[in-house]
Amino acid sequence: MLLTLSDVEVAYGAVTALRGVSLEVGEGEIVTLLGANGAGKTTTLRTISGLLRPRSGEVRLDGRPLSSIPAHGLVGAGVSHVPEGRRVFPSMSVRENLLMGAYHDRRHARADLDRVVALFPRLAERIGQPGGTLSGGEQQMLAIGRALMSRPRLILLDEPSMGLAPMIVQTIFEVIAEINQAGVAVLLVEQNAASALRIAGRGYVLETGRVVLAGTAAGLLADDRVRQAYLGEDVADGADGPAPAGGGAAAGPAHGAAVPADSA
Ligand SMILES: Nc1ncnc2c1ncn2[C@@H]1O[C@H](COP(=O)(O)OP(=O)(O)O)[C@@H](O)[C@H]1O
Ligand SMILES: [Mg+2]
Repeated sequence: MLLTLSDVEVAYGAVTALRGVSLEVGEGEIVTLLGANGAGKTTTLRTISGLLRPRSGEVRLDGRPLSSIPAHGLVGAGVSHVPEGRRVFPSMSVRENLLMGAYHDRRHARADLDRVVALFPRLAERIGQPGGTLSGGEQQMLAIGRALMSRPRLILLDEPSMGLAPMIVQTIFEVIAEINQAGVAVLLVEQNAASALRIAGRGYVLETGRVVLAGTAAGLLADDRVRQAYLGEDVADGADGPAPAGGGAAAGPAHGAAVPADSA
């Protein structure tokens, strides 16, 4: 497995943000991590990036404990993180911003710049312009493009659609699908659950630091709890209503659900 989190707990001082999160991302997958504000999505990505250290549990890349890889070595290990709020260098040009993403290995920078710019024609048109003069959507494209410059195997995206106009959001999701088709695995944090589940193969729902639902994207899209809480739909109460948390029949098995409690 490319990425595995096993029972990861993370705290900020006295505030426990993750209470035993287990999840996986396989080679070439798009996996979405959904959840309300404060659920622990950003904390999860920051932990995978090595910016936060779990209090307990483990993060593994290719089966290797993350704790054995220094945070500055993660990019070399194939993980690229696009943080919340698209941080571009405002006074540097689009080209310079992109080249910053290739800092750990400049050998392929020229070819990679061409490849990234081909993915984002709007960046090509603005290649010499300061990053700070781009629109919000263009800055998001620049942030994603910069992350691609390190040739990641896994890209972590933290709410790439936040604050963007619907048409730009659609472009961003199309590009994410395209990046994935080129072979890059994606862990996509989103509040825009409908769009995320449309391009993802699987997903997890986080609530107050716990995974409360996991399954295929189709299963999650059909799940009443997801539709009600994250797709803004009115779901009628009925005899065939939602299963209790942890059951998740429509969403497929949650981690450990199939393990009998009394196997000894
Ligand atoms: N730097 C911090 N210091 C203390 N608490 C934090 C910090 N960052 C996040 N938290 C808390 O951790 C929890 C998870 O936050 P976060 O991972 O940012 O959630 P999300 O990205 O899902 O909105 C929240 O309760 C939040 O208040
Ligand atoms: Mg967040």
